Amino acid sequence: MTETKVLLPESALPDRWYNVAADMPNRPQPVLHPGTGQPVGPDDLAPLFPMELILQEVSEAPEVPIPEPVREILRLWRPTPLFRAHRLEQTLGTRSRIFYKYEGVSPAGSHKPNTAVAQAYYSKQEGRERLATETGAGQWGSALALACRLLGLECKVYMVKVSYRQKPYRRSMMETWGASVVASPSEETQTGRAILESHPDSPGSLGIAISEAVEDAAGRGDTAYALGSVLNHVLLHQTVIGQEALAQMDLAGAFPDVVIGCVGGGSNFAGLAFPFIREKIGGKEIDVLACEPAACPTLTRGPFAYDFGDTGQLTPLVPMHTLGHDFVPAGIHAGGLRYHGVAPLISQLVLDGLVRAEAYAQNDVFASAVTFAGSEGIIPAPESAHAIHGAVLNAMAADDEGVERTILFNLSGHGHFDMAAYDDYLAGRLEDVALPEDEIQRALAAIEPLPKPA
Ligand SMILES: Cc1ncc(COP(=O)(O)O)c(C=O)c1O
Repeated sequence: MTETKVLLPESALPDRWYNVAADMPNRPQPVLHPGTGQPVGPDDLAPLFPMELILQEVSEAPEVPIPEPVREILRLWRPTPLFRAHRLEQTLGTRSRIFYKYEGVSPAGSHKPNTAVAQAYYSKQEGRERLATETGAGQWGSALALACRLLGLECKVYMVKVSYRQKPYRRSMMETWGASVVASPSEETQTGRAILESHPDSPGSLGIAISEAVEDAAGRGDTAYALGSVLNHVLLHQTVIGQEALAQMDLAGAFPDVVIGCVGGGSNFAGLAFPFIREKIGGKEIDVLACEPAACPTLTRGPFAYDFGDTGQLTPLVPMHTLGHDFVPAGIHAGGLRYHGVAPLISQLVLDGLVRAEAYAQNDVFASAVTFAGSEGIIPAPESAHAIHGAVLNAMAADDEGVERTILFNLSGHGHFDMAAYDDYLAGRLEDVALPEDEIQRALAAIEPLPKPA
């Protein structure tokens, strides 16, 4: 029987990030300047990001070295464990083998510090003293607050209002690491003030919070903007997850038939999946599955189009699956999955048939989360529970088909700050949000005038 935990020594921490763009059959289309409709260049992005990250954003190199000071901090929690979910398999009575990579062992409780540390490091190297960002569930804000603290930078976090209310202790956590946190939409930016004027009760959204953080960073020379997902360099930094998982699956004497992750902007999914997609492009047969909420079904119901990354239309135009930058998802508990777009790299891989997507209702997702907690012990983040649900459905489908599969999913974080969501689920108060097609079409009208992908 395979061991329950497959652990790697610190010496096995990857020293390179893997860049899937180098191997993709079709590179993503360029990001466009909204004013000119032309591809954005490094100079356009320089006010917001350190140059090293801009170069990573457009890099075609298959591998990018990880600076030693970044690895030194990653060693605080990496390599992370790979678990064989023996007890979940028994609970489900499945013949399939289920493995999960657990990113909740980081100090902030999720995969997000993998890129936060890298982004804070390059920002500091290039002389910035402060980072501004948005956060949905609070996981990304916590990760950046941690990274800024460890590297000696100031940190300002615009936290989506619904999460700010649902998760007061995420705010305390960020403040413990020295960050300053404000509920978004806030009175502190033009975008925030305009939204509050027209929608005083706005629950906020990641799209709105991004606008606020971008406006903050663009207005100050000492500040860089840090994004927790979507961009190529963010996905790149997460690939330590999949590289470790490949080595750990090898130690377990297994290789996955199915690789699963939840998708908000796409970073934890990419982190696990991209090194396996390298194998898939190299000829291995792997089903790569992205799981999203039915209340924000970007990959399953949104078109592939150029759209703004934020509600205030401050960012460049990004080629991606999108529900429209005006789309404000219902206040479901998987706050980190409430984003109108998905990373261009993942969107292109979906277009090219290398990744497929499914959308789940939140009560079903919580049912799987509770089953998981009752067998494996870990209480998962509601975001990560989408991947658990994907794995459970996959194992049950394999049993129905009379086959055995090896299933690997990313458990991107723990849910210790999400207990209000569990309270709601256990009390039967969670609603499954039906999203009528005309509501999606209404939101998509906002992208009609924008350039179309080739
Ligand atoms: C635990 C966890 N998983 C997943 C996500 C979704 O983000 P991404 O798709 O970038 O991994 C979040 C976002 O906040 C998160 O906190």
